Amino acid sequence: MKKKVLVTRAVFDETLAYLSQHFDVTSNQADDKHSPSELAARLQGMEAALISSTDRVDDSLLARCPGLKAVCSFSVGYNHIDVAACTRHGVMATHTPGVLTDSVADFAVCLTLATCRRLTESEAMLRRGEWKGTHLKELLGMDLHHATVGICGFGRIGQVIARRLRGFEPRILYCTRHRLAPDIEREQHVAFAAKDELLRQSDIVILILPYSRETHHYIGAWELGLMKRSAVLINVARGGVVDDTALIEALKARRIWAAGLEVYENEPTFNPGLLGLSNVVLSPHIASASEPTRQAMAMTSARNCVAALTTGDPPNLLNPEVLKQQA
Ligand code: 8YV
Repeated sequence: MKKKVLVTRAVFDETLAYLSQHFDVTSNQADDKHSPSELAARLQGMEAALISSTDRVDDSLLARCPGLKAVCSFSVGYNHIDVAACTRHGVMATHTPGVLTDSVADFAVCLTLATCRRLTESEAMLRRGEWKGTHLKELLGMDLHHATVGICGFGRIGQVIARRLRGFEPRILYCTRHRLAPDIEREQHVAFAAKDELLRQSDIVILILPYSRETHHYIGAWELGLMKRSAVLINVARGGVVDDTALIEALKARRIWAAGLEVYENEPTFNPGLLGLSNVVLSPHIASASEPTRQAMAMTSARNCVAALTTGDPPNLLNPEVLKQQA
């Protein structure tokens, strides 16, 4: 008898075909978001699940799913998974690093330019029929070229963003928990700065760090107060890294010049105060949403799942300790 696997959200036909070669697959091609109790009910009898970042995996869910051996998220971020709880319950947890790095970095540059050059505000004006012709002083933006860009979080994606930006000849500052070796800093044309210094000096601040208890409200009222009044803040990290209420206040008061947001506290809902602001560009968490990248994410997650239930040693495992428990 084939092992049973649940796919919690809609995935591509190729992903389902691949999984079905190995497992008895139940999928949610209607793409309905499951409540925690629905998810627990659907997981009964399942040995693994392909999950999305909208599914919360925690102690209370795992306690209700004793047969579960693996949760394989099609995301690189894993703040929706309590990894320690997975380990306690003997459940392997995997994610999809690497395959979305380039697309997310591309999008970070896209959102930065759109925000600096007031693209959505301009388009809205044009669509309303209010464009009266080009004027010298109309819709003036900020330049990305030769700007000082501060990147907070300098892992895989942060480093590729820096590489993409090089064509704009900026000065790049970065801050991260683990400073790079001096030769790598030189090679990447970046300089390390402590967080406060980076915020003070940057024209553009790009956030690309993981969400955790430590990074909750990494940017709040106090940090916004350190930034230049002319500064642009870009959040392509996770909702909760920025205190959205404090940001709205800062944008209203022109404490900073503009923001580009791809992620929000309590997604998919968000603070409605953002909608009334002209100096913010909003996107609905689409940084990895190119077709090849989303397909690669789904296939990586599926391969992680097949390995978890066959060899028992999946790539991209977040909790290798779980294997020691089983040995
Ligand atoms: C995904 C993401 O779109 O991978 C991540 O961590 O935030 C996005 O790339 C999303 O999580 C899909 O499940």
